[in-house]
Amino acid sequence: MDFLICTTALIIFLSLFYVYAKYRLSYWSRRGVKSPPTHLLFGNFKDCFIFKKPPSEILREIYNSANPDDPYIGFYIFHKPILLLRDHDVIKQIMNKDFDVFPNRRFGSGLERDSVNLDSILSIKQPRWKYLRNKLTPILTGQKLKNMLPLMVECGKPMIDFIEKSPINETGQNKCEVKDISSRYSTDVIASLAFGIAINSFDEKETDFWNNGMKIFKGFKRSIVFIILFFIPEWDFLIGPFIREPANYFRQVFWDSMNTRERLAFKRGDMIDYMLALKNGEQDPIYTFEGDRLLAHPTSFYIAGLEATATAIAFVLYDLACYPEHQTTLYNEIQTYLSGKELTMDLINEMSFLDSVVVESLRLHPPLPVTDRIALRDYKLPNTELIIEKDIPVYISVNASNQDPKYFSHPQDFDPRRIKTGDKKFYESLAFGIGPRSCIGQRFALIIIKVALIMILSNYIMSYETKTTLNNNQAIHVFTYAADGLHVLFKKRN
Ligand code: HEM
Repeated sequence: MDFLICTTALIIFLSLFYVYAKYRLSYWSRRGVKSPPTHLLFGNFKDCFIFKKPPSEILREIYNSANPDDPYIGFYIFHKPILLLRDHDVIKQIMNKDFDVFPNRRFGSGLERDSVNLDSILSIKQPRWKYLRNKLTPILTGQKLKNMLPLMVECGKPMIDFIEKSPINETGQNKCEVKDISSRYSTDVIASLAFGIAINSFDEKETDFWNNGMKIFKGFKRSIVFIILFFIPEWDFLIGPFIREPANYFRQVFWDSMNTRERLAFKRGDMIDYMLALKNGEQDPIYTFEGDRLLAHPTSFYIAGLEATATAIAFVLYDLACYPEHQTTLYNEIQTYLSGKELTMDLINEMSFLDSVVVESLRLHPPLPVTDRIALRDYKLPNTELIIEKDIPVYISVNASNQDPKYFSHPQDFDPRRIKTGDKKFYESLAFGIGPRSCIGQRFALIIIKVALIMILSNYIMSYETKTTLNNNQAIHVFTYAADGLHVLFKKRN
């Protein structure tokens, strides 16, 4: 009898679940929007949740399953309907022109907290976001970046020594995994500029900061944390215990720096100077700069900046190693402009091929290959019948969009000469997000990347040992990641 009751209950439960799931998963077809076939439980994200594919690859597949001219396609994470934007004009319309409807991102949605549980610009919502963004923007303006340049060059010197001392192969070349090098260099730059401390992550005795940073990004647990924050932020209560620990280390470093700076009353031209000014300035109740609300900013710059910048540098080095003709053109440009002079911001800005190389590499391997927004209210997409309902997220697959043959011929090739000014602006801005909420650190990041490239290319010729099949080689992570690393050979220039 008990068996009969249990079986009947189970059958009823499964039937109800089936009907419920089928109804939820028909959200897009009921609105005349195409979507790929779904799994009854996972929607379109099954391969991510069973750790078979990174989320960016799934979004790329969804993007490519649409017809070339489709402006958008619907998909589901579990049963949550999401719209993936494809057409460049639609992307501009939503992310830029109609930003007032789409000012917030889905990332970290529940708590307005970032990946180390701080109340930061990464996940904060309107209207607090706008107030904070206006307060933080002056930190990274032209003159401030000029002042930071010598600090970046200082961080580049141990990187060159590190390459010099790395293992040598049978042909006398130094063999390095470039993501490791670029992570250490980016850590030193951001530690110096955001936390006001000079460190050398290339020296094994000084790797505390680097190791604590890696706790945020590396490892399987962290991949899960990032996947939850980006793709199922409603579940952020599950990850609380994992995201608090690294903040303790950064809290101590930050307040040591702030207290020393305040006590000794000196300025270094970095973010700590600015945080002190915010702390001691007039406060607005919308966002008061005190306690962890001060720590949140260097930490969010570090979280948002480190992995992205390190990934970008590693992929440019790898691309240049694979394409010696572009490497030679770039070296000649650097020699022409630099020729024994001190590196200045004006010189960097004059190196147009350098800019094209970086932008083209970002097109091919956008470090953060996905970005999103949520509709604040029902919104009718202009020139269509589609209503994007309140709370429905829209996503952009940056890698799929940047490699769409509709927009780029031979999209898989690394070709810095392909760049037409209009195109360049658009896909560069996709790699850094787009619209008023795009990356606040874009100019800063480009300088960090360019300084590293100038210093390395001035000293070394690069080649590759084994060409990695990048598309089949991605780790399960939100960021673009070459699972087996990016291995480059370095030969010292005479
Ligand atoms: C190559 C390096 C970088 C890339 C590719 C990159 C990419 C991105 C992307 C795609 C977004 C999301 C934009 C959107 O939603 O439209 C973003 C946001 C952000 N990035 Fe970057 N980023 C880089 C470096 C940096 C650096 C060095 C910093 C530190 C200053 C930084 C700080 C931020 C912050 C604070 C946000 C959130 C902005 C907001 O919500 O208002 N990023 N970045």
